[in-house]
Amino acid sequence: MLDVFKTSKNKKENNEIVLDKNNIPKHIAIIMDGNGRWAKKRKLPRTMGHKAGVETIRRVIKEAHVLGIKYLTLYAFSTENWKRPDDEVSALMKLLVEYLRSELAELNRNGVVIKVLGDITKLPTDAQKEILEAIEVTKNNTGVVVNIAFNYGGRDEIIRAVKLVCEEVKCGKIDSEDINEDIFERFLYTRDIPDPDLIIRPSGEQRISNFLLWQCAYSEFWYSNVCWPDFKEEHLRKAIYDYQHRDRRYGGV
Ligand code: IPE
Ligand code: IPE
Ligand code: MG
Repeated sequence: MLDVFKTSKNKKENNEIVLDKNNIPKHIAIIMDGNGRWAKKRKLPRTMGHKAGVETIRRVIKEAHVLGIKYLTLYAFSTENWKRPDDEVSALMKLLVEYLRSELAELNRNGVVIKVLGDITKLPTDAQKEILEAIEVTKNNTGVVVNIAFNYGGRDEIIRAVKLVCEEVKCGKIDSEDINEDIFERFLYTRDIPDPDLIIRPSGEQRISNFLLWQCAYSEFWYSNVCWPDFKEEHLRKAIYDYQHRDRRYGGV
């Protein structure tokens, strides 16, 4: 199954990417960008790019399973993406519903756990319903945890956490003197999820776009010029290969 791990030597041979199976990032987060430009290049409407991007999601989840990645976070809709034309926003909402409807059984068979990061109460009711069902159906699975970041913004998440902490202080459950990083993290959407080891952004942009602002403190970043619909298993493996050759010092020497 794991032919990418063919030898234990941690190097690239004949263009084949050989990964160190003892150093697979536990949590990979991806900013799924470039759908619009992919479509534009083909003279297609932007929504066709988003559709093509769903195929990449299928491939990447499968590959994450093969490689033994435990957490995969996919940035699908930001708190700023509401600024887009109404028809594009509705197309993205519709795609989310269609994706969960058509894919849930298969995801469940593969042991995937679906979680959502973001404020879903602002989504159309059918989208909320599909999301809650997917979370419920997959909650006892033990495979890859797929966090869909939808209506997610890092700043929004931090403000929300601050408000929740204030509530706890107000009702006397927490003493403000005791607030520390561990306590604060319990109020983030990513509660119980380790920080991302690796953040991948395709499409040529090199910015964070309000993604996992608290959690990315010591993440490794990996960029690629391919647009998300063209992102293949080998890009994921190359990102992990590069990650495995970085020296994570966390401020130490
Ligand atoms: C990413 O692709 C999908 C979402 C942000 C929802 P884009 O739609 O941002 O594609 P580009 O960046 O315009 O090419
Ligand atoms: C980030 O991409 C959000 C998602 C991929 C969901 P954007 O396309 O919205 O980011 P900017 O506007 O280029 O920074
Ligand atoms: Mg974009």
